[in-house]
This record gives sequence, structure tokens and C-alpha cells, in this order.
Amino acid sequence: MITKGIILAGGSGTRLYPATLAISKQLLPVYDKPMIYYPLTILMLAGIRDVLIISTPHDLPQFETLLRDGSQWGINLSYAVQEHPEGLPQAYTIAREFLNGEPSAMILGDNIIYGARLSAPLLQACEKPKGATIFTYQTREPERFGIINLDKKQVPVSIEEKPKNPKSNNAITGLYFFDERASDIAADLKPSARGETEITDMIRFYMEEKTLGVAQLGRGYFWLDAGLHDSMLESSKFVAMIERHQRFKVGCPEEVAWRQEWITDDELLKIAHGPLVKSGYGQYLEEIINDFIHSGKRNRV
Ligand code: TTP
Repeated sequence: MITKGIILAGGSGTRLYPATLAISKQLLPVYDKPMIYYPLTILMLAGIRDVLIISTPHDLPQFETLLRDGSQWGINLSYAVQEHPEGLPQAYTIAREFLNGEPSAMILGDNIIYGARLSAPLLQACEKPKGATIFTYQTREPERFGIINLDKKQVPVSIEEKPKNPKSNNAITGLYFFDERASDIAADLKPSARGETEITDMIRFYMEEKTLGVAQLGRGYFWLDAGLHDSMLESSKFVAMIERHQRFKVGCPEEVAWRQEWITDDELLKIAHGPLVKSGYGQYLEEIINDFIHSGKRNRV
């Protein structure tokens, strides 16, 4: 059972310059909240309460200011530095001590995933006893992502990193569930031609071992990596539209913590009446409690 998670929120953000010259991309807002709230709530929806946040030496203190030790949301947050962005697998060598020989989930700090009943496939991935699970999504831009190809029986057969001539549109999203061997596998990787170790090489290890599960996020889901000006703007517009029309917020850690019963009604109300009150965010938290008082239903995650 996976109970530990990693958010990789470093990188250079060069594709968002000059917006990210002085601030981490994952601290920039996606509509009404910092980008990192979205991947954090995904881990929380998976039932994960012990999370390591990895970022650059420059940005890490700001993440600590924003998210603190997590106890306000009934979770435990710790922090680690990635000196240089040398590839996604490095997260697992940095996290070795935190993981302490346990399996984990990792999500990239710029990944926004949304869809009804997302908790079910997340929990299933957490419960897988051996191997790995990745989440895939049909993309129009396969050249931008790691692509996994499945045979007719839906068995994964090959992986390509940012292929020039992609064999499919099946993009690997930035959400990975690896068993307890992840840090050892990461430590053995050699950098690719672009000078970084590649997460696709870690995934290939499990694929060749035939222990890789592939969960496909179908048309009812939304996935974006908000690493480009346009995808960031699109993410903001998407969240704004959902929040205005459906009333419920996307990526609200206070709400998930409360629905998971990791914080009490009183604790949520205290947050609602604090500094969040003027932006409407606090009012939203109060509204969901009132809904609960009237309907008796807490679990709308
Ligand atoms: P990328 O979008 O591949 O890279 P980046 O954020 O450095 O941006 P750019 O290409 O514009 O320079 O990274 C995906 C996510 O992973 C993003 O949230 C940053 C994070 N990341 C790290 O924290 N460390 C790393 O070594 C790498 C490669 C990425």
C-alpha cells in the first residue's frame, strides 16, 4: 500500500521566461490558487498524507512559507533540495531517506489533472503490490511527451521520449506510482543525449519486467502540463469555467482534507474565517460545510 508521495517542483521553467525568471512556475497561479495546490490535492485524493516536496535551493523556502508542515490540512509535508535539474528520476535518489524502502507516488508540480471519480484509479494504483502504474492521456502533441505504445491486448510494448515520428498519441502524464525499488533503479540510470536521466527509462524497467500497469485517463478527464504560456492560460481558463459553472473548486487542499476527515468541521471553519475570507475562497469553504449540514453528505470528492 502506497502512503508516501513526492511532488517534484523544481526545474528551470525556461519555457515560461520571463514569467519565471524570479519565481518558480509551480508558485504561479492557475486561476485562483498556486499551481502546486493541484498536484498536491491529487496525492491527497489518493489517500497520501506523507509528502516530500522537492524544489530548487532558491524556491524551496517559498514553498515552505506557502505550505508549511501540512498539519493545517492534516498531512505531513517535508522538503528537499534538488541542486540542479538533472532529470525526473533524480527525485527518487533525493527522496531515498524519506522513502525509507517504501513504495511511492510521484507527481510533477506543473501537472493539472481533473475528472470525476478520479480517486478510484488512484487508490487502485496505491494498492498494487508490485511494480508500477502510470497514467496516460490521448494527446494531440505526442512530440512533446513520453509516449507509450500498447498492443491489441492493451499490454505496453514500447516507450519513446518525445518521438519525432510517434507510433501513438498515448502520452505518459506526470503521475507515477513505483514500488520500493525506485531509488535503486534511478541511481543506476545513465543520462540521455540531452544530459538528463529520463523517467521513461524507469518506466521501461517495469515494462520489461511485465509489472507495469497503464491506467488510461479517458475523455471524461482533463490533463495538462502547465509549462507553456498557452497551457498555463488554458489551465486557468479551464479551472475558472469549472468553478463558475459547477460551483465546486478544483484543487482545493482544504476541501479534500476535510472530505477525507483529516481535519474537523471546526478546523475548516477556522481556515475559512482567516485570511482567505476576502478572496471568496474562505466563503467557499464555509459553503461546503453548510452543504454538509443540510445534506449530511461529506464525500463529493
Ligand atoms: P519540465 O517542464 O520538463 O522542465 P522545466 O520545469 O525545467 O521547464 P522548462 O522546460 O520550461 O525549462 O519539467 C516538468 C516538471 O518537473 C516541472 O514541474 C519541473 C520539474 N522538474 C524538476 O523539478 N526537476 C528536474 O530535474 C526536471 C527535469 C523537472
